[in-house]
Amino acid sequence: MTDHDIRVLDDSQYRAAHALFRGTLHRAPTPDDQWKYVQESYEPGRALGAFADGEMIGTVQSFPSTMAVPGGAVVPHAAVSRVGVRADWTRRGVLSALQREQLRAMRSAGDVVASLRASETVIYGRYGYGVASRYRSLRIDRHHAAPRTRPAGRVRLVEGEAGERIARELFEELSPGRTGTISRWPAWWGLNVRRRMADENMKIAVRSGASGDDGYLVYKVEPGEHDPGDEKPTTLAVLDLWARDAEAWADLWLFVLGIDLVVEVTASGRPVDEPLQWLLGDRRACRMTDEYDETWLRLLDVPAALAARTYREGEPVVIGVRDVYLPENSGTYRVAAGGVTRVEDGAELVLDVDVLAAAYLGDVSFSTLAATRRLDVVEAGALRRADALFAVDEVPWCGSYF
Ligand SMILES: CC(C)(COP(=O)(O)OP(=O)(O)OC[C@H]1O[C@@H](n2cnc3c(N)ncnc32)[C@H](O)[C@@H]1OP(=O)(O)O)[C@@H](O)C(=O)NCCC(=O)NCCS
Repeated sequence: MTDHDIRVLDDSQYRAAHALFRGTLHRAPTPDDQWKYVQESYEPGRALGAFADGEMIGTVQSFPSTMAVPGGAVVPHAAVSRVGVRADWTRRGVLSALQREQLRAMRSAGDVVASLRASETVIYGRYGYGVASRYRSLRIDRHHAAPRTRPAGRVRLVEGEAGERIARELFEELSPGRTGTISRWPAWWGLNVRRRMADENMKIAVRSGASGDDGYLVYKVEPGEHDPGDEKPTTLAVLDLWARDAEAWADLWLFVLGIDLVVEVTASGRPVDEPLQWLLGDRRACRMTDEYDETWLRLLDVPAALAARTYREGEPVVIGVRDVYLPENSGTYRVAAGGVTRVEDGAELVLDVDVLAAAYLGDVSFSTLAATRRLDVVEAGALRRADALFAVDEVPWCGSYF
């Protein structure tokens, strides 16, 4: 018998749930004039609350989405966010109860995977989430960047709704595409672009080449003082940048690097393999300031997830999976280039479902996970076979913050 219960929230409870969540992040509730953007992002049936003595004490929620997996298939995906338990109720199992309910509900609704961004790395492994992609932050000293090349197409600023519409169309063409990329739910744009365009002086630039619009950039400039040696440099933050091909990608960065009076360019959430230094005359003008865990991935339906991705040619491997929260996933899977089958026994590698999630998109090899004692190796040769089967051509990346 617990001292709290979990319920699905209705739309009369979203505002309280959101205020509770923001409170756990030590932030004030969303002001009235911005509430409409948040309200429309709550989806019926996808927000849960924990209640005790008639009061809400915790909440979790998810957005409906899809994700690209290795080989190009796109699977139903739940983007989990707004996770919080009131400070006077933490460490009493409230999040665990919410997670148990949410994992079950997402799987029952047909989501094959779920993902989230973690505020702290200690929280989600126990619920079966593993780090499946990384991202990095950059800082460029614009005056020393000295780009090596000139634009090949045209980049233009597009204001207001027209800019958002073009950005959104291009995004929807490109993501989900690369492994790990996801679809954004309609309210994502209201919350992350429309609301901020009005408030924060964000700008949208669109690149066009021979075949029309093929890339966009959302950015924001924090003006400094323009006196020499001033402590506060004018800084441009790249917030979202997507391009159909390398030519469009280079032109968007060249545009950024050409904007007058900007001293520093920052970007976060960028792919770890983005070759920005190679675009610059002085590669040291671009510093990698951080590399973070990006996608915390949960395989909700392990057989469906394993069947959805492709595998490289190679000898099969038999993997034993343990899943405490969704025990129907626990079992033994024979993975081969031609497909995946469930078998009775003979596991050569044994691991928890969060470890399988970490390896699933191909960002980390089974050998690395074994070297760091994250899995049990029953048959030594199985590591090499698993590495070969799960290997991917391009590092996974999501690129959408939620
Ligand atoms: C993170 C949070 C939701 C956890 O809620 P909670 O109800 O305290 O979690 P539980 O009591 O169910 O904890 C389950 C286990 O995880 C551990 N745990 C959970 N959050 C932890 C944290 N932040 N640091 C260390 N351990 C944590 C608990 O100690 C417990 O371990 P045990 O099973 O070995 O006893 C809550 O601390 C919170 O709201 N934090 C601030 C907001 C936040 O970071 N939200 C997440 C946004 S991604």
